[in-house]
Amino acid sequence: MKNFLPLIITLVVFFSACKNDDSITDTVEPTPSIPDFVMAGGETTIFDITSNAFATPAPNLTPANFDKHLEGDLAFEQVFVTEPADVNPGLGPIFNNNSCVSCHIKNGRSRPSLDGNELSGFLIRLSISGLGEFGGPKGVPFLGTQLQNRSVFGVEKEATFTATEIEEIVSFVDGTQVTLHKPEYSITSSQYNIPTDIMISPRVAPAVFGLGLLEEIPEEDILNKVDENDVDGDGISGKANMVWNIKEETKTLGRFGWKAENPTALQQTADAYHQDMGITNSLFSEETCFEQEDCNHNGELDITDATLDITTFYFQTLAVPAVRNYENETFQKGRVLFEEINCSSCHTPKQQTGNSSIPSLSNQTFFPYTDLLLHDMGVGLADNRPSFEANGQEWRTPPLWGIGLMPVVNGHTRLLHDGRARNVTEAILWHGGEAEQAKESFKQLSREDREALLVFINSI
Ligand code: HEC
Ligand code: HEC
Repeated sequence: MKNFLPLIITLVVFFSACKNDDSITDTVEPTPSIPDFVMAGGETTIFDITSNAFATPAPNLTPANFDKHLEGDLAFEQVFVTEPADVNPGLGPIFNNNSCVSCHIKNGRSRPSLDGNELSGFLIRLSISGLGEFGGPKGVPFLGTQLQNRSVFGVEKEATFTATEIEEIVSFVDGTQVTLHKPEYSITSSQYNIPTDIMISPRVAPAVFGLGLLEEIPEEDILNKVDENDVDGDGISGKANMVWNIKEETKTLGRFGWKAENPTALQQTADAYHQDMGITNSLFSEETCFEQEDCNHNGELDITDATLDITTFYFQTLAVPAVRNYENETFQKGRVLFEEINCSSCHTPKQQTGNSSIPSLSNQTFFPYTDLLLHDMGVGLADNRPSFEANGQEWRTPPLWGIGLMPVVNGHTRLLHDGRARNVTEAILWHGGEAEQAKESFKQLSREDREALLVFINSI
């Protein structure tokens, strides 16, 4: 029997080869090739327009990395609880929420909140003037650099916030009017004095897919587009944020967060565990409430490095949804307009990765629509809270991929750092500073052209 085995294998190979040949000759039809920009995440792209569009593993993961991704998925969903507990103890004592996914719902974007008593995926960064450790923002006495508006049982929460909205009416040349809403936040605390010069930066949670690709854009490609003094005279500068890298113990290029304040996906994760959930780890080993008396720090880290790694790996290896409607004429018109009115000078359509230790992220051409640089966006969007190189008017260009799927994934269309824009039109109308000219050009467009631009943005 043993001797027949090679023969059987040969026959199977022979017949299946014939079958393949047949099927190839049977189906020689020109298949329309998909334009490269449709594959928004290169080989990590998926064709999914359901509520899982941001929560699917990259299709090109090796089997081992696929398993690792699934393990990371569980870590991203783990709900932390008050000590002592058998599973996931260590929440707080002060915190904003109790799991990654509770803020990044379905890996998507959170809504803004105007009421600090709500449990939400929204948070407020704080500081006072001056420089903190390593040149970053200086924490507010007792409150630190982030407002934790929740606390575990028996611990007073540090503070809470409320907001009121100011309205502003903007008109297009065709007479259409839009009412913009600007939230103004204030902090109240029953235990601490809030300094009068406190600086407040409200932020919603962004979507977390595709970030492994953004992390692997070679630093020199990003820095090549820096034009801090606008030497080319196009009105658009672009500045790199150089932020403290804890592992490398030096400043490196910031990539993550609305002001590019975190240099790596790992540090972003460690920071989120620490500040957002009160979970200490090897990068941030002190509880956030170190200046409070009832901090109750037990000296042990709440999670291991393995947990930090696996949580990070999860969002690094998520798939990116493909572009929709690209064969549609309106889309094509919108795509041209996006270039013509210079949206693409900050929202850089195409990027490329170098070599990555995660093979599926290596040498990918992808389409995030960001340059990852800081831009002055004018007084309308200013938080007036500097962070490292970013001044109070500067924000990192956010990627635009997946924006059109937000209603399906998260049931809303709130945009910008504090979620004030109710849709893409409002988001554009808030642009100012270096983007003033692009916004003015948008206001000059006919209704039909505006709609084409929106179709394009909602399809990429
Ligand atoms: C309280 C809500 C909240 C929780 C909990 C939370 N996040 Fe976030 N996350 C945010 C907000 C808000 C931002 C934007 C922060 C900024 O710009 O400073 C953010 C930013 C991020 C980013 C950067 C995204 C980008 O486009 O640059 C990543 C990655 C991220 N969070 C991952 C995590 C992980 C992993 C966890 C769990 C360990 C987590 N987050 C827990 C609210 C939250
Ligand atoms: C000077 C650089 C620059 C130009 C030019 C520019 N943008 Fe932006 N864009 C940004 C920055 C920075 C933000 C984030 C601002 C914030 O959150 O406060 C942003 C935010 C957005 C958002 C919301 C994204 C999100 O994730 O919430 C949309 C949509 C958008 N831009 C579309 C456009 C369109 C369309 C144009 C052309 C009319 C344009 N932008 C021109 C820099 C630019």
